[in-house]
Amino acid sequence: MMLAFLLVTFACLSRALQQGTLHRRTYFYVGQTYIADGNSSIAADQMYVEHLTPAKITRPLPLLFIHGQGMTGTNWLNTPDGRPGWADYFLSKGYELYIMDQVARARSPWQPTVDGPLLATDTVLVESIFTAVQRFKLWPQAILHTQWPGNGSVGDPVFDEFFASTVPSLSSQAEEGEKMKHAGSLLLDKIGPVILLTHSQAGQFGWILADSRPKQVKAIVALEPTGPPFMNVIIPPLVPARAYGLTDIPITYNPPITSASDIARVVVNQIPGVTCFQQAKPARKLVNLLDIPVLAVTSEASYHAQYDNCTVGYLRQAGVSVKHVYLGEIGIHGNAHMFFMEKNNLQIADEVVEPWISKIHG
Ligand SMILES: *[C@@H]1O[C@H](CO)[C@@H](O)[C@H](O)[C@H]1NC(C)=O
Ligand SMILES: *[C@@H]1O[C@H](CO)[C@@H](O)[C@H](O)[C@H]1NC(C)=O
Ligand SMILES: *[C@@H]1O[C@H](CO)[C@@H](O)[C@H](O)[C@H]1NC(C)=O
Repeated sequence: MMLAFLLVTFACLSRALQQGTLHRRTYFYVGQTYIADGNSSIAADQMYVEHLTPAKITRPLPLLFIHGQGMTGTNWLNTPDGRPGWADYFLSKGYELYIMDQVARARSPWQPTVDGPLLATDTVLVESIFTAVQRFKLWPQAILHTQWPGNGSVGDPVFDEFFASTVPSLSSQAEEGEKMKHAGSLLLDKIGPVILLTHSQAGQFGWILADSRPKQVKAIVALEPTGPPFMNVIIPPLVPARAYGLTDIPITYNPPITSASDIARVVVNQIPGVTCFQQAKPARKLVNLLDIPVLAVTSEASYHAQYDNCTVGYLRQAGVSVKHVYLGEIGIHGNAHMFFMEKNNLQIADEVVEPWISKIHG
């Protein structure tokens, strides 16, 4: 009965959104630096930001979306199979949106004489960890994946469309972190306060920006944020990463640290391919994040199902208040890492994310 009601509700929601949500779109850049080039100059470090304003704004705080590695702001627009994305959904709920392309990526230009080397995105990586994880089975939950539209592999029109939207990313996470901190802080000064929605790699930019501008960030929705602390897992090479716990660049702790090695760590859990570190007690606090509520969302079949609780455990130990939702545990099955564009993307927005952010007030 309830399920039938929900299905009807989603059918209506999808139909209404098919036509799109009436809105105005503008774009601007923030963070540009002029760099001398002979007797002239070039520009670097600027961030492209799209501003989508619904016909009627009914929510007090805008949403700022930050996409992950290899991706751009197109992630939040329509899905690769042409359905409405989260941008349309949240516009329909009366939110004003800002959607960026990460610095040195896509419409935020990469300057060959200024920016560091790029890492290409390849088909096997995308198939094996995002779109066709059930075929590669790199982690136990992968077999549960059913929500990607199409077979998630080269030759399928939806995969081909999605893959065409991927782009090279800076290979240094620390370099991207510094550039995102620079332009992102200026962006928050201009548009804040906001609610941040981060995905994957951008998880760390959410912590970095909230640390840099704590008054301008009222809440963070972290969709499968990059993690776990200190060490890469599952996808080789399993090497040290995120030297400051959840970030590759310094973030503020209390008691203060003078270098990353001041953060004492212990292994609390080990499963094949995943080493989970937390801080040794007493844990230092991520002091600028203490008043910023976080919603972490983890899908059932993603590689993040293996370790997001370790990332969340680290945040909680550092004093951050986190609500962690495992989609599988609330009856939303079969999703992997790109769940906000999979078949049930609007259900996840409507049942999990919007109800939480609608309670956040300026
Ligand atoms: C700037 O430098 C270029 C290349 O050296 C030269 O051709 C050009 O005349 C210079 N322009 C001015 C305005 O000095
Ligand atoms: C996926 O679908 C495409 C298009 O039908 C097909 O060419 C391709 O072989 C399929 N790949 C797999 C792994 O099933
Ligand atoms: C995370 O979940 C795994 C599997 O359920 C469990 O073994 C581990 O102790 C948890 N880790 C943390 C830090 O909560």
